[in-house]
Amino acid sequence: MKVFITYKIPDAGIKMLQKKFKIEVYQGEKFLTKKEMMEKVKNVDAVITQLRDPVDREFIDAGKNLKIIANYAVGYNNIDVEYAKKKGIYVTNTPDVLTEATADIAWALILAVARKIIPADKFVREGKFEGWKPHLFLGHEIYGKTIGIIGMGRIGKAVARRAMGFGMKILYHNRKKVDDDYKYNAKYVELETLLKESDYISIHTPLTKETYHLLDSEKLSLLKPTSILINTARGPVVDEKALYEFLREGKIAGAGFDVYENEPKLTSGLEKLDNVVLLPHIGSATYETREKMSIMVAENVIDALEGKIPRNLVWG
Ligand code: DGY
Repeated sequence: MKVFITYKIPDAGIKMLQKKFKIEVYQGEKFLTKKEMMEKVKNVDAVITQLRDPVDREFIDAGKNLKIIANYAVGYNNIDVEYAKKKGIYVTNTPDVLTEATADIAWALILAVARKIIPADKFVREGKFEGWKPHLFLGHEIYGKTIGIIGMGRIGKAVARRAMGFGMKILYHNRKKVDDDYKYNAKYVELETLLKESDYISIHTPLTKETYHLLDSEKLSLLKPTSILINTARGPVVDEKALYEFLREGKIAGAGFDVYENEPKLTSGLEKLDNVVLLPHIGSATYETREKMSIMVAENVIDALEGKIPRNLVWG
């Protein structure tokens, strides 16, 4: 059995796979094109993909022997899941193991934007710090404020758990009310209410047809001028051009981005705003988490190629 991995992942998972199958790992730094990937998947039984790989019908059709597409990510909006399923190909992801790391990055962004950490650091490095001043880098208080969590799944709940430590009022919006929201002291509200009442808004919903541009210009206009919006989920959940205009005009206080609508491209001008913090999609980027993710993709591939239903089937 043959497995192709579209980009290097930590050794732990690769070693597990090498014991059982013939593995090819793409070693380059520059990403493979879709055409190159299609050539590679022609004769393999399994492919491990990255969240940026466009696994559409054409890609899936190219993998004539494919039994599994194991995405090295929790999100799988890059894959035409319905088509793969129709063709009898398993699709798996890496849930749970990246929950805490991603919640930490959402919080890193909340703190960095609210307390102007990046410009303050730059200021010191540039030798501009002359001593304590009453008005130097005033930011927004976090403790005791209201956070609105959009998408109360695993990561949303982990963000809420952290918010409890900050004594925050916690609102959330989800497809439906979650059963254990009492554990987080979190109140289910309509999206409009959440947007109107929250000081911090953190997005944790997957990208689907329903969540595409969930926050469009009309929804963004409900935010308070002091609000801060954080997106560590998927860029297209927010209309990035509209958000850019709101930020530029100071209609909202700031935003933290780990993901972008046309990743890796940014809406032009975003990089010039000083009320934003821009990260390169590093939500799950810890040594520990990435290693666990590699073990998880390997387990899924081994399950599938040994004739079992993989443990992290996305429709399971
Ligand atoms: C994922 O795995 O889908 C996340 O976006 C990683 O940060």
